[in-house]
Amino acid sequence: MSKTICRVGLVGTEFMGKAHANAFGQAGRFFNLARPVRITAVAARDETKTREFAKRWSIDRPMARWEDLVVDPDIDLVDIATPNFLHAPLALAALKAGKHVACEKPLAVDLETARSMRDAAKKSKAKTFVWFNYRRCPAVALAHQLLRNHRLGEIRHIRAQYLQSWGGPKIPLTWRFKKRLAGSGAHGDLNAHMIDMARFLSGDEIKEIHGAVGRTFVKKRSVPGGQKSARSEVDDSFSFLATMAQGATASFESSRLAPGHLNGNRMEINGEHGSIRFSFEDMNVLEFFDAKDKKKEAGWRRIMVTDQAEHPYVGAWWPEGHVVGYEHAFTNQVSDMMRVLASKKPVIPLADFHDAYQTQRVLEAALISARDGCRVKMTTVK
Ligand SMILES: NC(=O)c1ccc[n+]([C@@H]2O[C@H](COP(=O)([O-])OP(=O)(O)OC[C@H]3O[C@@H](n4cnc5c(N)ncnc54)[C@H](O)[C@@H]3O)[C@@H](O)[C@H]2O)c1
Repeated sequence: MSKTICRVGLVGTEFMGKAHANAFGQAGRFFNLARPVRITAVAARDETKTREFAKRWSIDRPMARWEDLVVDPDIDLVDIATPNFLHAPLALAALKAGKHVACEKPLAVDLETARSMRDAAKKSKAKTFVWFNYRRCPAVALAHQLLRNHRLGEIRHIRAQYLQSWGGPKIPLTWRFKKRLAGSGAHGDLNAHMIDMARFLSGDEIKEIHGAVGRTFVKKRSVPGGQKSARSEVDDSFSFLATMAQGATASFESSRLAPGHLNGNRMEINGEHGSIRFSFEDMNVLEFFDAKDKKKEAGWRRIMVTDQAEHPYVGAWWPEGHVVGYEHAFTNQVSDMMRVLASKKPVIPLADFHDAYQTQRVLEAALISARDGCRVKMTTVK
C-alpha cells in the first residue's frame, strides 16, 4: 500500500457533500485501501454551516472560499459536490493546480463546458473521476460482470427509466430549476445516470437519437425566501429513443413528477441468450433470466447480491443477506479511486472526464432532438 495519504478538499456540504464525506470516512474502515485517504479541508457557500459540517465530520480545515481550497498545496484531490454550474470552474482551477479531481454528475451544464473539462483533463497528469455511483451498487457491478462474460449474447433492447416524484409545485425555485445553474432538469439530473449505466453495462455507444420529448409541467415556482414566484426553466420530465452502435434499441425515460416512484432507477437489458433487470429501490437484487434454461424450469432468478466470496464489493461489507444501502456505492467508489491513484485496476471501470463527456454528448444530442423535432446522429454532436 502506498503510504502517502491522499488529502481531499471537499466542496459542498449538503446532500452529496454528506454522501462523499461519509464515503471518504468509511472507506478505510471497511476496505484495505490501496492508498489511505482523508478529507482534510471543506468549503461551501455558508461559512457557519461549513464550520458545523467540518466539526461533525472531523474535517480539520473549514475554508471560506473554494478558490483557496482548489490551489491549497496541502490538498491532493479536489472533490466537487456543488451545483452543476460550479463543476467546471472548480475542476479547471483544480486541474491547473495539478490536483486530482472527483466531480459530481452531470459533468457540466452543457457540452461546450464539458469539452473544456475533458480537454483540461487530457492535458493534465492528474486523474479525474465522476461520481456515477450507481455503477458500484453490487447488483449493477454483477450485471456488468455477466455482460462482460457474454451471458446475454448480442444485446437487443436497453430499457432505462429514472422516475422520481419530489418535483411538485410546492418545491421552490432552487438552482435545480434554473437553466444557467443546472443545464437541464430531469434530463441532466437523472438521464445522465441512465445513459452512463447503459453505456457502461452494454460496453456499447449510442449511435443515433430517433426522437425526444421534454416537458415543463410546473411552469412557475416560488422564489426561496420571498413572496414572488418565477419561471421554471428546465424540463420536469424527458424521454428519448436511441439506437446503439452495435444495433440494440434503447429507450430512456426520466421524471421528477411520477407519483409512486421515489428513486426509481431501473434498467432492463434483453439479449439473445437472456435478460437482466435492476431496480434501485430493491438494490441488493439483480434479476437474471437465462434463455438457455430448460423451458420447464425457466424463469426470472432473483439473485440476492450479498455473497461475500462471489459478489463484487460485498466482501468488504456484511455476511450474506445483511444488505447494503445507498451510501455503500459511494464508499465502493472511494476504494476504487484509491486503487487507480495507486496504479491498480478498479473492481469495475470508473468514469473519468473523457467518459463523462461521452455521456454529456448523448444528453446534448437528445436536447437537440427534442428542440428541433428531428433525428440526431451522434457523429454530428462533438
Ligand atoms: N450521484 C448522485 O446520485 C447525485 C445525487 C444528487 C445530486 N448529485 C449531484 O451533486 C451535485 C450537488 O447536488 P446536491 O444535491 O448536494 O446539492 P445541494 O444544493 O444539496 O448542495 C450544494 C452544495 O454546494 C454548495 N455551494 C453552492 N454554491 C456554492 C458556491 N458558490 N461556493 C461554494 N459552495 C457552494 C452549497 O453550500 C451546498 O453545500 C450536483 O451536481 C448534483 O447533480 C448527484
